[in-house]
Amino acid sequence: MAAMSVLSSKVLDQLGQQLSAQPSRWLVTGCAGFIGSHLVETLLRFNQEVVGLDNFATGHHRNLVEVQALVSPAQWARFRLLEADICDAAACQTACQGVDYVLHQAALGSVPRSLANPIATNAANIDGFLNMLVAARDAKVKRFVYAASSSTYGDHPGLPKVEDTIGRPLSPYAVTKLVNELYAEVFGRCYGFASVGLRYFNVFGARQDPEGAYAAVIPRWTRALLLGDTVTINGDGETSRDFCYVGNAVQANLLAALTPNVAAINQVYNVAVNDRTTLTDLFAILKAELQQTHPAIATATPAYGDFRAGDVRHSQADISKAGTLLGYQPSHDLQSGIRVAMPWYVGRFSQG
Ligand SMILES: NC(=O)c1ccc[n+]([C@@H]2O[C@H](COP(=O)([O-])OP(=O)(O)OC[C@H]3O[C@@H](n4cnc5c(N)ncnc54)[C@H](O)[C@@H]3O)[C@@H](O)[C@H]2O)c1
Repeated sequence: MAAMSVLSSKVLDQLGQQLSAQPSRWLVTGCAGFIGSHLVETLLRFNQEVVGLDNFATGHHRNLVEVQALVSPAQWARFRLLEADICDAAACQTACQGVDYVLHQAALGSVPRSLANPIATNAANIDGFLNMLVAARDAKVKRFVYAASSSTYGDHPGLPKVEDTIGRPLSPYAVTKLVNELYAEVFGRCYGFASVGLRYFNVFGARQDPEGAYAAVIPRWTRALLLGDTVTINGDGETSRDFCYVGNAVQANLLAALTPNVAAINQVYNVAVNDRTTLTDLFAILKAELQQTHPAIATATPAYGDFRAGDVRHSQADISKAGTLLGYQPSHDLQSGIRVAMPWYVGRFSQG
């Protein structure tokens, strides 16, 4: 018997009923990563056939082992892993064979990583993306949903962020995500190719990698708090983000893939909750949640460091477009998402 999903929500459950009645074949690139592994888990729970592609650049086999433990043996039997690089055009062609829907997540994330090595980020995020677009077009997939990014808003100061008003990119990573959108749009215009871009805003949840120089803020700080290390806040703590629980991102992917609304296709959407939390407040929220199981955390205080190069100062998404055209209804805000996500980190870092 498979365990209950921590991603459960009304909209997802409805999508699950729709999907289970009519199984399809899905390709999830970046399947061993954070968001990709949640997509694989959800699709398998809904009895879909899933091909996963990953080169394990930043993803981990352990994420797939965890997914296997969360689904039934019959559901896991419908998963096939292709260990390959999206920079290999032939591998992309192979992966897309017979696929109905592509959920393209594979990319090198992180603004600082792209500043340190813009060539590697460009190769995976632009060359690899184009390989995937061509392969999906050639295989005549029904829909290509891809991970875009809030970094595309760049230096535009407006809040909340509305899809059609962007600024200039502030990092090589942001350039790559903007180029993805441009290519997807041109493929729609030139080849009648159906895609949807999802501009994720600071997604968090279980399996988001807490290790390494390029770890995202929530897993990095959670790990530090649980291990008794000092949390360093970049800048004055007033930098703000629209933190988005991974269940919301999964919901947006499935809605984008399945929507029958033709007006919703060949568009980009913000995926977040339309809220804004400062880094200082985030620290307090994490601390309050974790001190319930680890009382010593009550005395933790953060250190403040330099601002990080390439970072956007404030971020908050207007999510009305995804609501209106896709029926997107985020199931979790930051607090409820943190509550669901923390046990995974507690389990990981409290085992001695
Ligand atoms: N997590 C966020 O907050 C966030 C925000 C905006 C956009 N995104 C985008 O969402 C997607 C998923 O991000 P994530 O947080 O799950 O990151 P992740 O690093 O956990 O997952 C990315 C996966 O892609 C794989 N990958 C990287 N390069 C590859 C290549 N050349 N060939 C094949 N596989 C490759 C990695 O091994 C990894 O498993 C990425 O496109 C990222 O840019 C994420």
